Amino acid sequence: MANNNIMGIDFGTHFACVGIFKNERIEICPNQQGNRTTPSVVSFVGDDKLVGDEAKAQMDRNPLNTIYDVKRLLGRKTTDELFDHEVKKLSFKVTTYEDNNEKIEFQVNYKSNVVTLTPIEIATSILEQIKHTAETFIGGESIKKAVISVPTDFTEKQRNDLKEAATAAGITVVRMIHEHSAVALAYGYDQVKECSETTNESKESNVMVFDLGGSGVSASMIRVRSKLFEMIGNVSDHTVSGEHFDHVLVQHFTQEFNRKYRCDLTDNARSKAKLKSACEKAKRNLSNMTQAALEIDSLYDGRDFFTNITRARFEDMASGLIKGSINAVSQLLEKCNMTKEQVDKVLLVGGASRIPSVQNQLLNFFDNRQDILERSMNQEEVVAHGTTIQATILAADKSNQSLTCNSSNISMGAPFSAKFTPVTIGIQDSNGNLIPIIPSSSLIPCKRTFTLNTSSENQDNLNMAVYQGSAPLAKDNQLVSRFIFKSSPNPIDVTFEIDNNNTLLIKSEQANYSIKF
Ligand SMILES: Nc1ncnc2c1ncn2[C@@H]1O[C@H](COP(=O)(O)OP(=O)(O)OP(=O)(O)O)[C@@H](O)[C@H]1O
Ligand SMILES: [Mg+2]
Repeated sequence: MANNNIMGIDFGTHFACVGIFKNERIEICPNQQGNRTTPSVVSFVGDDKLVGDEAKAQMDRNPLNTIYDVKRLLGRKTTDELFDHEVKKLSFKVTTYEDNNEKIEFQVNYKSNVVTLTPIEIATSILEQIKHTAETFIGGESIKKAVISVPTDFTEKQRNDLKEAATAAGITVVRMIHEHSAVALAYGYDQVKECSETTNESKESNVMVFDLGGSGVSASMIRVRSKLFEMIGNVSDHTVSGEHFDHVLVQHFTQEFNRKYRCDLTDNARSKAKLKSACEKAKRNLSNMTQAALEIDSLYDGRDFFTNITRARFEDMASGLIKGSINAVSQLLEKCNMTKEQVDKVLLVGGASRIPSVQNQLLNFFDNRQDILERSMNQEEVVAHGTTIQATILAADKSNQSLTCNSSNISMGAPFSAKFTPVTIGIQDSNGNLIPIIPSSSLIPCKRTFTLNTSSENQDNLNMAVYQGSAPLAKDNQLVSRFIFKSSPNPIDVTFEIDNNNTLLIKSEQANYSIKF
């Protein structure tokens, strides 16, 4: 069943992500390339306009005609604070609108002409692509409505421009929702109270969303209380973002290259663009490895650049940015008049929140409290998940639909009637990988039965370790419980069920187990 065709869109600065309700659960729609997020990039090559992955692939080769970071400039004016600073970092030409020199335009070569485009037009192209991705995913059926998430500090003008872009892309925005409210929804915080009601507890908790994405660092405090959650404060700082971390590496390697070859690679737009994307890759690699290599053929003047960097060196160079990210957390506590001890959970969001020392410093800030950091949902998909949950709920209750777009339409604790599993429940296979049994965002109640086979002959016992979380390796998730079954000549059928009381029931001939979920 499709969700009455309302999609949930996270229109990110670097990546856009779209979800839909399909097969009784929230699904993130993969694009044509099979990727679950689509670069928010548009490139003009000769007579072609490319969007998404194909456009991003042009960034090095065609930097002057490849437009990115449009969310930063949407709804802004050339007179805005930070405008000059933002524009300096872009590789394409930003001009002012002829009739209104506060209005921003981009200039590219397209179809052998110099063409000017507005941020709304670029956003429209990205949203058209996203719409197409979702439609293809449900088999080609048309989708005309969406819930779109927006940053907590998006102004009325920014929201209206995004809505205008959506309208031009053939999408009616039925609601806009704060990105951080979407995160709370995705983690099932609207259901937490229902759990405690069944145990007659009236628990109140404070959940912080920490988001280090493409455009900045932001943090929100959400108070979860009796069937609703309330955003009680937020802060954002656009001087610390995933991109600023890239810039630290770009500056470092530019100096290294220039020193080595006695030249200035910054005088060539293609060289700058090539170095920037290599640095972004190196930064991602440093989140998984302690050292990353940079191998760029013909970077400048036919010269190759092969070098490397350690994680320790990177963290040292980026220490100001890491400190800046943690500052956002202390500022939020100050704003909410709260102590760090009053925070029950910190939900990590945004690709750059994967940087190990950002996580370590956060943990340190919260006195190394066990389980304070929550990262079991994919940091780049969680906003789209929550936005799609909101879309699904609205689709189920058509009377809730709203076609205007103003701040009162921002959902901050709307009544939620549908319930979804907040995390994936799975078991460990013999290679240590997690096999999902009940994927996150499955509609509750749900039930799956699978068969366990003994992995070798003469095996006395069969171990089954159950985890919650979405990391590919089982050990990186939270252990729910271990079971030991007596081996039997026949395969063992096991059923996982989540009932209406959010209780996980695990049943087999040899086991009967239940846990509050
Ligand atoms: N493994 C990783 N380690 C470090 N940084 C990463 C990793 N994966 C992604 N990033 C960075 O995360 C940033 C993009 O994050 P994300 O997709 O959450 O942003 P966005 O949603 O597009 O932006 P925003 O929410 O600010 O509008 C990029 O700077 C990217 O390089
Ligand atoms: Mg984001």
